[in-house]
Amino acid sequence: MCGIVGAVAERNVVQILLEGLRRLEYRGYDSSGVALIHDNALSITRRVGKVKALSDAIEALDDQGTGATGIAHTRWATHGGVTESNAHPHVSQSRFAVVHNGIIENHKSLRDELSALGYRFTSDTDTETIAHTVAELRKSTPTLLDAVLESVKRFEGAYGTVIIDKDDASTMVVARSGSPLVIGLGIGENFIASDQMALLPVTRRFIFLEEGDVAEITRTSVRIIDESGNEVEREIVESTVEHDAGDKGGYRHYMLKEIYEQPAVVRNTLQGRVSPDGIGNDVFGEGSDAIFAKTEHIKIIACGTSYHAGMTAKYWLEAYAGVSCDVEIASEFRYRKSVVKPNSLIVTISQSGETADTLAALKLAKESGYMSSLAICNVDGSSLVRESSLSFMTRAGAEIGVASTKAFTTQLAGFLMLVLAIGKQKNMPKDIQQHILSALTELPAKLEETLTLADEIDHLAEEFSDKHHSLFLGRGDQYPIAMEGALKLKEISYIHAEAYASGELKHGPLALIDAEMPVIVVAPNNELLEKLKSNVEEVRARGGIMYVFADKDAHFESDETMRVVNVPHCLESIAPIVYTIPLQLLSYYVALIKGTDVDQPRNLAKSVTVE
Ligand code: G6P
Repeated sequence: MCGIVGAVAERNVVQILLEGLRRLEYRGYDSSGVALIHDNALSITRRVGKVKALSDAIEALDDQGTGATGIAHTRWATHGGVTESNAHPHVSQSRFAVVHNGIIENHKSLRDELSALGYRFTSDTDTETIAHTVAELRKSTPTLLDAVLESVKRFEGAYGTVIIDKDDASTMVVARSGSPLVIGLGIGENFIASDQMALLPVTRRFIFLEEGDVAEITRTSVRIIDESGNEVEREIVESTVEHDAGDKGGYRHYMLKEIYEQPAVVRNTLQGRVSPDGIGNDVFGEGSDAIFAKTEHIKIIACGTSYHAGMTAKYWLEAYAGVSCDVEIASEFRYRKSVVKPNSLIVTISQSGETADTLAALKLAKESGYMSSLAICNVDGSSLVRESSLSFMTRAGAEIGVASTKAFTTQLAGFLMLVLAIGKQKNMPKDIQQHILSALTELPAKLEETLTLADEIDHLAEEFSDKHHSLFLGRGDQYPIAMEGALKLKEISYIHAEAYASGELKHGPLALIDAEMPVIVVAPNNELLEKLKSNVEEVRARGGIMYVFADKDAHFESDETMRVVNVPHCLESIAPIVYTIPLQLLSYYVALIKGTDVDQPRNLAKSVTVE
């Protein structure tokens, strides 16, 4: 999704801006641009495609890009096609330059008003209305800050925006509403970005802006005005994110690195929170155990891969902890009227903590009478964490590959801990508690063992590369894993993949079965195994070709219609986590053969900060 970097300094900032953009590339984008102020002149360079195209263009300039004040952007098209003229920064009066993440929803009426005032639009974007609005209001206000404070009153929708004025190179003004911005504090220089990752090479001291904040940033000062118009101080946070989190560490892709990191990051996520004796107190935040004691219903809200983690958790929470649970896609929940059951806890899950739909759903839930809110998240200090009463950090480390892997498995480990924490308050039977504790204890080693299947899966992937469709099947808590497997394959290999609860086969998808549509089955040895075997026979009888990831004791045999990969035996409650690994590897190797952009698949973004 779109990325922002900005700087006010004494030194030339062009390389800082470009490096910032490179560090945001993982979020997905289709064009990029830079605006620099030098000698009271504004220079704009924009390119379609990768940041490399932009940096090559800047290098070819006579001055190779000079300016101690500048803003830069990677754009993920929403309004207007992928063209140079739609790329940011957008400019008004050859004086004001603007970069923007989010969507100005009332852009049409603003465009009409501003056109009537004589402003000429050169792009199809909503962002250009910001540039002209600020230019117009600057005429009647004493400073750029005042002009922006007036302008934001006119904007509806979501924005994280940064504005510079060539007539005052000492200042940039930023505004946040629904799209994150973080100020990076340097010595005699200051920065802005949509994600701290962009600024880690230049600072580790950050101020996370809050909803409604507008800030004026100079080389030596930061002034923040909150939503109510009051000047406020915000906490300075020392970042704990590793500087080289963006390093591939010898792996060919971030995704592969992140797949292999799973045993370690799951171990980190468990550490100090759970031991063979039980779950610690208040692991989900201060006062969480008391809230869990009162909780009668759990509503889980998320998007994408995080939603699949929530779906898995529903099986666990109801089966093990005996607490009723339902799961919903955030973009659906936020726009429908729903009934809040008494003593309900809202649980949001998000890798980034900045997904616009999830944030909006949380806001709605808080207004609708949920007893409390818990965020399961991978980014400390993110909007979701700050806006929830309770939080639990998955310790996956920075996830760069757009296709989520280690964030998912750590979310699942977090949910098994949630089952333990809630179960403790609800007298969950001792044997179930013991089972989960033993399963979590063996989990990191089981993940390591499962990763040794990589070569076998690599060979198997060759049979997929010429296929256009595929079907993933699972039952019970493996159904969401089949969904996640299908999502991974379609995200990075562009092969159409659908997932079904295998009991549903006969209600439609059987009509699609033929030798050209591989059927992928996840088959641990559990109480649904015999049912699953009947579904496998239904596929076989119709000439389907199957790839079965199965427990050795499930007794599947490879033959001409079925390729069986034996997954290490594990305790039942962690099987969804263990069986995720071979499906991730399968997608990865298929994508590798197809030669797609594994880490930045087309049209997708890492953190979806627009709705
Ligand atoms: C995007 C990403 C997915 C992710 C989803 C939800 O679509 O590409 O990998 O699962 O957003 O993101 P979140 O950060 O809320 O987990």
